[in-house]
Amino acid sequence: MKKVIISPSILSADFANLERDIKLVENAGADWLHVDIMDGHFVPNITIGVPVVKSIKKITNLPLDVHLMIENPDKYIQPFAAAGADIITFHYEAANEKSFDIIKQIQSAGLKAGISIKPKTHPETIKDFLDIADMVLVMTVEPGFGGQKFMSNCADKIPYIRENSTENLIIQVDGGINADTAKICIEKGANSLVAGNYVYKSADINAAIQSLR
Ligand code: DX5
Ligand code: ZN
Repeated sequence: MKKVIISPSILSADFANLERDIKLVENAGADWLHVDIMDGHFVPNITIGVPVVKSIKKITNLPLDVHLMIENPDKYIQPFAAAGADIITFHYEAANEKSFDIIKQIQSAGLKAGISIKPKTHPETIKDFLDIADMVLVMTVEPGFGGQKFMSNCADKIPYIRENSTENLIIQVDGGINADTAKICIEKGANSLVAGNYVYKSADINAAIQSLR
């Protein structure tokens, strides 16, 4: 069985102790570090930007899995790549017909390219990108905030994506992931899990990460 990539989301970390909280998940066996970028337009919340990603890059060896929840993602690929992102995921809903070019832009910078869909977007909408993207991120909550409840109907999109792609495509889920919902998603074909609250609010972070695999 192939390994499941666990990507803890620092949205649930203590931003005043970011280095400490990143080391916590790094030492607990995380595979990637999920960094949520929100602009207050594409989603109602605002988080962090390029300078913080640049600083994070200096203190961790984990690949930076940057999730752009922003409008005009095409304008920010180069800055986030230069800041040290290893994977950049943008939203189809913010890119539409620019999606193909953005995927190519990310890959030309030597990074993995992810395309994400919100709960109301059908997976058929991104059918044309399943062969060229490195990853599809299926949102299992409305993007914008951590700690929301998992939407199981979103996980139902995973089999379609798996059936219409090569086995190399990484299928990531994000939102409301815990040991139970992780199992549902893995059974449907996901092989990368983002988890914020479940990891950071647990008393034993090692055990929480292990329980997701
Ligand atoms: C939500 C973000 C998620 C968030 C997940 O819009 O994209 O990455 O941190 O948080 P949990 O795991 O708490 O639902
Ligand atoms: Zn995210």
